[in-house]
Order: sequence, then C-alpha cells, then structure tokens
Amino acid sequence: MNYDFDTVIDRHGTNSIKWGVYPEDVLPLWVADTDFAAAPPIVERIKKRIAHPIYGYTMDSPELVSAVQDRMRERYDWEINREDIVLVPGIVSGFNFASRAICEPGESVIFQTPIYPPFFAAPANNQLRTITNPLVFDREQETYRIDFEDFEQKIQKDTRLFILCNPHNPVGRVFSPEELTQLGEICCQKDLIICSDEIHSDIIYNGHKHTPIAALSPEIARRTITLIAPSKTFNIAGFSCSVAIIQNPDLRERFTAACKGFCSGVSFIAQEAGAAAYTECEDWLTQMNRYLEGNRDFLLDTIAREMPAVHTNPIEATYLAWLDCSDAGLPDKPHAFFLENAKVGLNDGAAFGTGYEKFVRLNFGTPRKILAEALERMSRALKKV
Ligand SMILES: Cc1ncc(COP(=O)(O)O)c(C=O)c1O
Repeated sequence: MNYDFDTVIDRHGTNSIKWGVYPEDVLPLWVADTDFAAAPPIVERIKKRIAHPIYGYTMDSPELVSAVQDRMRERYDWEINREDIVLVPGIVSGFNFASRAICEPGESVIFQTPIYPPFFAAPANNQLRTITNPLVFDREQETYRIDFEDFEQKIQKDTRLFILCNPHNPVGRVFSPEELTQLGEICCQKDLIICSDEIHSDIIYNGHKHTPIAALSPEIARRTITLIAPSKTFNIAGFSCSVAIIQNPDLRERFTAACKGFCSGVSFIAQEAGAAAYTECEDWLTQMNRYLEGNRDFLLDTIAREMPAVHTNPIEATYLAWLDCSDAGLPDKPHAFFLENAKVGLNDGAAFGTGYEKFVRLNFGTPRKILAEALERMSRALKKV
C-alpha cells in the first residue's frame, strides 16, 4: 500500500500546540510532531477499542511489552526481559524520574548542548545542578562531534547522571558505536548512570544505523536507563506512551520508586496505539522515512541555493534542521526575524543552550508543499535584509 504524506490536513481546531500558538497567517514549523495522518492500523485499533464502552483502569498490555522486546531483538540484536520494561507516559517524564531516582538535591547532571530544552528543566525541577558538554562543529567535516576531553574534565565528584540524546535533537547526529562506547567507558570509570533518550531512533536516514548505548556491553547496560517511544515515529505523541528499558534490577527499583505517586503507567488507549504502531506499521514507517529524506534533501538544497548565508549540517536522523543564521546579518534574533518578516514559526535557538542565540530549529515533518512555501517565505525575507 502507498501512503499519502503530501495531502495538507488542516489541524486548526484540534488544540494542536504547533498550529494553535501562532496566528493563522504563520506557517508553524516548530514543535516536534509531524503533519502526517497516523497509519491506518493505529486509527483502526483506536476506533475498535473506543467502541467498547468501558474505559476503566488498565494493566500493562502484554502485546505492547512483547512488541518492545521483539523490536529491540530484531533491530539491534538486543535481548531484553519483560521485567526490564517500565511504561511511562513520556520521555520527558522518564528523564525527570531518572533525575529524581539517581541524584540527591544539589548534585549534578551532565548533557550535551545544543539540546532539546526540557533537558535543562529536568535538573532544575529536581534541585540539581547542570553541567554542559557542548558538541563541537567540525568545520572541515561540516558535522558535530563530541568533545570527549571536555566531557571527562567537566564530570565532578557529585555528578551522578549523564542524559544522552541519541539520535541528537537538534543536530541530527546518529552517534556511532565507537563514539557511544567511548562515552559509556567514561561513564563506567566515573560511575555515572546514563539515561539515554532514544525517542528519535526510528527516524534514521540512508547510510546510518542507530545503536542503543545499552546494547554495547553488559557494563554499560548495568548503568543505563533507555527511553524509547512510538510517539515521534508514528506521530502519536498526543497519546503519551513511552517505554523505559532498565536491565539492572537495582536501578529499575530506584527508577520505579521515583515514579511512585507521580505516575501510574500509560493509559489503555495509548497502549493500544503503541501496540498497533509497533506491530502493524513498519511499511508506513519505511515510506514516511523515505518522504522525510526527500524533505531533508529539498530543504538542504534550497537553503544552499537560496539562503547561502544560513549554514546547515548533515542531518542523519530526526525531522529537525538546525540552522545557523549568524552570518545572515539579521537585525533581530533569527526566530523573531522569521516570525515577523516571513510569517514562519521556528524554534528559538536560545532555548537550546547558551551560545545558540543565532540559531533556529526547523521541523520539516510536513507535506512538501508547506515546507516549500515556508522556505520561499524565508528566502524572500532574507533577500530584503
Ligand atoms: C529528544 C526528545 N526527547 C523527548 C521529547 C518529548 O518526549 P515526550 O513527549 O514523550 O515527553 C522530544 C520531543 O520533541 C524530543 O525531541
């Protein structure tokens, strides 16, 4: 079956954050969900369950739990047990629970910037200190690299937790097994727990392969909480269904203790959506990734041709582009400039860490027609500067 990612579906009136915040004349390419209809098996599954009129308390769905085990085995040759799986309502909840579980107030957490803004809120929410290890842009290779020396040096005596983002939002890197092994080994030496946010791990482009850091070695697995979800992959983020995989029983116990009273699993309907997504939608995902790869190529070509002062980097994963506007000579912050002059809503780079004030993040998970219109508006506005 061929799925349609080209049709523009009006999301106004659905309480979509992405489409509801800005005025109607703005094309919103910010919040990270896509403008694509969910795969038919998910829609069918939800309709079927909703038709049964009792919506009471639910247990964890054995189908969803098995689907997660099968997915990890088939994709990564990673064997996990049923009891390693803890359902959580979201990835952000997951790394907040991990922060509470692992650290005492006043201790510190390290992560790599630029970064998805809720990474900054997790330590702040839990009275913890933040240490940042900025990724370095390698001008020769035109890609972002990990500064391992800085990572190792910045870890302090009271640093307990490393929150990893792989694939990385916003720079779109898929970290290699070698890079992940080096990070993992430093965490083993320094006795850090790793919370690995792998929410974008299904949206990977040709030539790249995702590696769950916990699958690299039993030593790394013992200190890792892996967070995955069908939410980005299948555009069902509104259902709030995510999964923590924790193979070390002591670590799992600490994590579930931190959840107690704050989280009682995942709703029955979200579990239905997640189970259908993980068991019946692989061909849809293959086609969506192909479509997104086309969008990525279109975006990078258009920017290189029409907006040469805006610098990009290769995008190996995610439907997010990280645009460096520091050479564009803008009179204003780039986010404000594009909103005002192009009527395009992007994410403000400043929210991704200090030093990224001249960047914007653009979500290209949208029909090509919308992407083309937004890029056209941005290039027209830049040409007037
Ligand atoms: C890296 C990353 N983690 C987590 C999330 C959000 O996860 P959730 O909605 O499950 O809390 C996003 C959404 O954009 C993300 O990009």
